[in-house]
Amino acid sequence: MKDKFEHKSKNWDMSSRRVQNAKGIADVILNNIDMKPTYKILDVGAGTGLLGYFISAKVKEITALDSSASMLAELQSKVSQFDCPVSIVKSSLAEYECQECFDGIISSMTMHHIKDISALFHKLYGMLQEKGFIAIADLGSEDGTFHDNNDGVYHFGFDFENLKEMAKAAGFKEISTEKAHSIEKPHGNFDVFVLMAKK
Ligand SMILES: C[S@@+](CC[C@H](N)C(=O)[O-])C[C@H]1O[C@@H](n2cnc3c(N)ncnc32)[C@H](O)[C@@H]1O
Repeated sequence: MKDKFEHKSKNWDMSSRRVQNAKGIADVILNNIDMKPTYKILDVGAGTGLLGYFISAKVKEITALDSSASMLAELQSKVSQFDCPVSIVKSSLAEYECQECFDGIISSMTMHHIKDISALFHKLYGMLQEKGFIAIADLGSEDGTFHDNNDGVYHFGFDFENLKEMAKAAGFKEISTEKAHSIEKPHGNFDVFVLMAKK
C-alpha cells in the first residue's frame, strides 16, 4: 500500500502547530484520565509519536501503531527521548490483531483517515482490558479545507455528539468530549476535540 505520508514525514515535527496540538490533546487526556505507571498504552496512527511523547512519563509502555513506514522511521530516530519503552508496529489498525492487550488507547488526528468509524470503535473495544479507556482526538466538523489535499481523508472532521452515540453502540461507557485545541490556519481556525470513554 502507498505511504501517503512519505512526503510529509521528514518535516512533520517541525510544525509548531502540530506540536502544540499534540500537547493540548495530551493535557486534556492527563487532566481527565488517571494514568497509572503500570499502563500499557496503544497509540493508533502514532505517526512520529507527538502525542505519545507527552504521555510517556506517566505509563509503563507505549505501542506505536501506524501504517506509514516513513512516519515510523521518524519516530524510531527519537524513541530514546521517550520516558517509557516504545514498541513500534507497522500495520494498519484493521490488520493488527490483539485481544484485551491494552489498558488504554490514545490517538491523535488519525480517525479522519479511517473509513468505517463504527468498526473502529468495535475494534478498539475488543483490544482493551476490562475498564480500559480510549482517548481519541480529531477535528470537529470542518468544510473540507483543513487539508490541502483530501486524498485519504474519509471524514471532514466529526460531529462529536454523533461519535458519542457510535462509541455507546460499541459498548463504551462514561463517554465525554472536551475541546483540546484550535489549529489556526490562514483561512480559518479548526477545533480539535478529544472523545474519552471506558470499557
Ligand atoms: C495526520 S497523521 C497523525 C499522526 C500523529 N498521531 C500526530 O498527531 O502527529 C495520521 C497518521 O495515521 C496513520 N494512519 C492512517 N490510517 C491508518 C490506519 N488505518 N491504521 C494505522 N495507521 C493509520 C497515518 O499513517 C499517519 O501517520
